[in-house]
Amino acid sequence: MADWIRIASAAECPPGGSIEREAAGRIVAVCRVGDSWYALDGVCPHQGGPLGRGMLCGRVLTCPWHGWQFDVTTGRHRLNATMQQPCFEVEERGGEVFVRVEPATP
Ligand code: FES
Repeated sequence: MADWIRIASAAECPPGGSIEREAAGRIVAVCRVGDSWYALDGVCPHQGGPLGRGMLCGRVLTCPWHGWQFDVTTGRHRLNATMQQPCFEVEERGGEVFVRVEPATP
C-alpha cells in the first residue's frame, strides 16, 4: 500500500478551489469542496490538460483546455459515465494535506 505524502498546506487551496501538485511522480489535482478534500489524477484523459488548474464549481472540475468536466467526488466524466479519472485518498491533518497515490509506472 502506498504511503501518505504531504502535498500542500490547507491554506494553499481555499474552499471551492483546486490546485495542481506532484506526488510519487504523478500529477495530482487536489480539490476542496467546502471542508471536504478530493484528489484525482491531474492529467486530463482528453489531451493531457492540467485538471488541477481548472475551474471548480461545486463538485465539478472543468479542464482548462477544452472543458471536459469531472465530478471530483467520483472521478466520473459528466457526460460519459464510462469514463472515470483515477481518484486518490486525501485527508487534512493539522492544516496539512496528504494524499496516498500509487507511484507512477516508468
Ligand atoms: S485536455 Fe482536458 S478537455 Fe481537452
